[in-house]
Amino acid sequence: MDTEQILAAHGQRQLSSVLEGLRGRERADLEKQIAQIDWNTVEHWRKQEDLSGKGRVQPIKGLDCVEIRRCRDVFAKTGTEALQNGKVGAVLLAGGQGTRLGSDAPKGAYDIGVSRPLYIFEQLVANLLQVCSACNCYVPLFVMTGEQNDEYTRKFFQKHNYFGYPSEYVRFFVQDMAPVVDFEGNLLLESASRLAMSPNGNGGWYSSLARNGALRDFPDLEWLNVFAVDNVLQRIADPLFVGATILSGCNCGAKVVCKRDPYEKVGVLCLEDGVSSVIEYYEMTDEMATARDRDGNLTFGFGVILNYLFNLKKLNETVGEKIPVHVVRKKVPFYANGEIVSPQTENAYKFETLILDMVRLMKTCLPFEVVREREFAPIKNKTGVDSVESARELLLQNGIRL
Ligand code: UTP
Repeated sequence: MDTEQILAAHGQRQLSSVLEGLRGRERADLEKQIAQIDWNTVEHWRKQEDLSGKGRVQPIKGLDCVEIRRCRDVFAKTGTEALQNGKVGAVLLAGGQGTRLGSDAPKGAYDIGVSRPLYIFEQLVANLLQVCSACNCYVPLFVMTGEQNDEYTRKFFQKHNYFGYPSEYVRFFVQDMAPVVDFEGNLLLESASRLAMSPNGNGGWYSSLARNGALRDFPDLEWLNVFAVDNVLQRIADPLFVGATILSGCNCGAKVVCKRDPYEKVGVLCLEDGVSSVIEYYEMTDEMATARDRDGNLTFGFGVILNYLFNLKKLNETVGEKIPVHVVRKKVPFYANGEIVSPQTENAYKFETLILDMVRLMKTCLPFEVVREREFAPIKNKTGVDSVESARELLLQNGIRL
């Protein structure tokens, strides 16, 4: 099919006149972008989020802090050995746009220091270095970027000498992008000759990493600890978590915190039709959210904090399996009639897959409880809940100089 036919077949004839106005390189580039579109993804704009598709949801058994303390030595031994034998890698998800923080730079380049500069990336690397020095080994660190922040991120690491991490253990890879459409499903342009694209969500991390080839540099890897850029307190490649997950025989592990209250806006780990799954807070019925066990704990109380350990073999088995595409309403600037339009309200759909949906593909997942005040300080906003301010407070409480 030529480009005209592709556009006609997918109801995008409005782009024909744009193409006609272009020549040479610009035309070729736009044609290339159109040829690469995954139309199955774009078609999701018609369906919107379907929340009726949940299976039978039941509570899942996990390790709470008391149990973890009791088995500490065994977990630590197994985890440390795995790290020292090169079996564990860390994957930093830094491809997001951090729109809520209102900065154009990558979120990890945000300075959260007070009396000295302290970048989010720097704090995360410091957390990882702590584990490395305790275990006397380094862990390969794969950093996922987005097209829009890849160059900035690489240069930022270089400029800061990888924050003290040996650069031969660091690899960058770029996540895939997805087109953006308006509320009628029309592809938007970001300039006269380029489609508006946005990162395709954090669920695409493994296919992007596998395609990149960087895993081949570390042939002993068996487990990948995937974590979000915005939780500055988290322990990365935590030997206890690694050891507990390996010994559990599960295909993945998830660090969780006990939900603060029934309505806290976090995804919850559970069983869905007998396999591990994460349900989002907005998918919970009131009855589920408030249910308690005999001891008074929330029945669905394991809140995920986006720190997972995945078995590599199992990941490879699931490549190609479909995970849901989420359609998200966002404010997206676009190009029309010779100028950039910056909308005041949401005007477009973005398409994202989410890492939490991978938990279901893994089939078995160990919930591993961590103490919220020691390991969960997410930075989503500038002020208020989950903000730079709240994270600073928690860092100080944990003895980190700001
Ligand atoms: P969030 O869902 O909080 O999104 O990301 P975000 O893009 O950082 O921030 P907002 O919503 O625009 O303000 C959770 C984690 O997933 C990563 C983010 O970098 C963060 O570590 N992520 C998100 C990606 O790597 N790629 C994406 O496409 C989306």
